[in-house]
Amino acid sequence: METALIILAAGKGTRMNSDLPKVLHRVASAPMLEHAMAAGATLAPRHTVVVAGHGADQVRAAATAFDEDAQVVEQTEQLGTAHAVAQARPALEGFDGMALVLYGDTPFVQPDTLEKMQEALSTHDVVVLGFEAADPARYGRLVMQGDTLERIVEFKDASEAERAITLCNSGVVACKSDLLFDLIDKVGNGNASEEYYLTDIIGLARAEGRSATVVTCAEAETMGVNSRADLARAEAAFQSRARDLLMEDGVTLIAPETVFLSRDTYIGRDTVVEPNVVFGPNVTVESGSTIRAFSHLEGCHVSRGGIVGPYARLRPGAELAEDVRIGNFVEVKNAQIAEGAKVNHLSYIGDATVGARSNIGAGTITCNYDGVMKHHTHIGANTFIGSNTMLVAPVSIGEGAMTGSGSVITSDVDPDALALSRAPQVEKPGMARKLRDMLKAKKAKMQRGS
Ligand code: UD1
Ligand code: MG
Repeated sequence: METALIILAAGKGTRMNSDLPKVLHRVASAPMLEHAMAAGATLAPRHTVVVAGHGADQVRAAATAFDEDAQVVEQTEQLGTAHAVAQARPALEGFDGMALVLYGDTPFVQPDTLEKMQEALSTHDVVVLGFEAADPARYGRLVMQGDTLERIVEFKDASEAERAITLCNSGVVACKSDLLFDLIDKVGNGNASEEYYLTDIIGLARAEGRSATVVTCAEAETMGVNSRADLARAEAAFQSRARDLLMEDGVTLIAPETVFLSRDTYIGRDTVVEPNVVFGPNVTVESGSTIRAFSHLEGCHVSRGGIVGPYARLRPGAELAEDVRIGNFVEVKNAQIAEGAKVNHLSYIGDATVGARSNIGAGTITCNYDGVMKHHTHIGANTFIGSNTMLVAPVSIGEGAMTGSGSVITSDVDPDALALSRAPQVEKPGMARKLRDMLKAKKAKMQRGS
């Protein structure tokens, strides 16, 4: 059966106390909405419909940035979860597969849990994702009869006996699309909140003699975010799980609690990550590399055998080929560094290509920006760039060329040439001593005078 995702993301998230819509707050460098979309995407959905409301334009931009085929529909008034799902109806006209409702503020639902729900739907009309809550608090309660889910009762509307139930509603629901919308048509708002509750579809389905059941998951998967404190807890939960998964995959984290990962961080086997490293979005590190302490990486690729840091910064577009070394206080941005090249100390390499096995001396800077435009620096293979060379782009250094330390290179250098551009050295014999004696005499005279 084909799948359509309906992701609810219209809520304001008042308790976030923010101008940003709640679902766009980030966990592991990615909007929470993206986490929910990514979990759903593993089912290869035919449609992804995001129901936006507060900050709809921003939500639309984030949804389509992650999946350009995502459809974003607007719920202008937030009248309840059933009303929110109803907004997806026009987008799913004629679709007769499974509709899966997810929440944009519940980032950790796992793909295999969603698969279990899909499976359960082959023998039931409605499937709800439930969990045993350590503290059921205000969650909707799942009223079971054997394996059958009879109805869901919201906390506000529940009796004492129902409030004693610990099996709770996560909010995730799977149902055949046309049946879902038929049931939603029948939902009213005669309840304590005067809202159209999606949860009412269970009782309605059962009244029609349809079957409903529950798939359960760990409570951690259903963790929702309502406040900044929840956001911090969600971040901690993500990081802890992601670090464990990396270590299971054969990556050494010397001090795992000090390494921060993004939703999409990929690190290959037998790579070692030293303490205090931050991986921003879109980083891939191949196997057998070493990321040394206090480095910051984002939007970059490190090939097999690379050594990065300590104290290195790889910015978007940094592409390191195999066995490249990037040392301390080196920043690389939008630059391809070919195999075996070394940039070991105190450099900025931006908008550049560096050829294989080239050695970039300490303090070298590609002067890529003229205040208005960015320009490219090309450095060929097997070059030796002397310390403190300023490469004023656009400029090209031929294969096998050298530059003298302290040179300001403003025009292209031919292959195998040595380029020097610095004031010639002059030497004045004995002058240092004379100068020092003169200065000492001057100081002594001043002290006598005072
Ligand atoms: C809902 C469930 C409850 C479940 C809980 C799990 C209902 C009636 N109740 O309650 O059983 O235990 O989630 O967290 O469904 N939203 C919209 N438009 C609306 C209303 C909500 O987009 O008109 C979105 C919210 O932004 C949020 C999600 O739907 O992402 C859930 O809404 P929320 O108001 O948080 O529902 P709960 O009261 O928590
Ligand atoms: Mg909620």
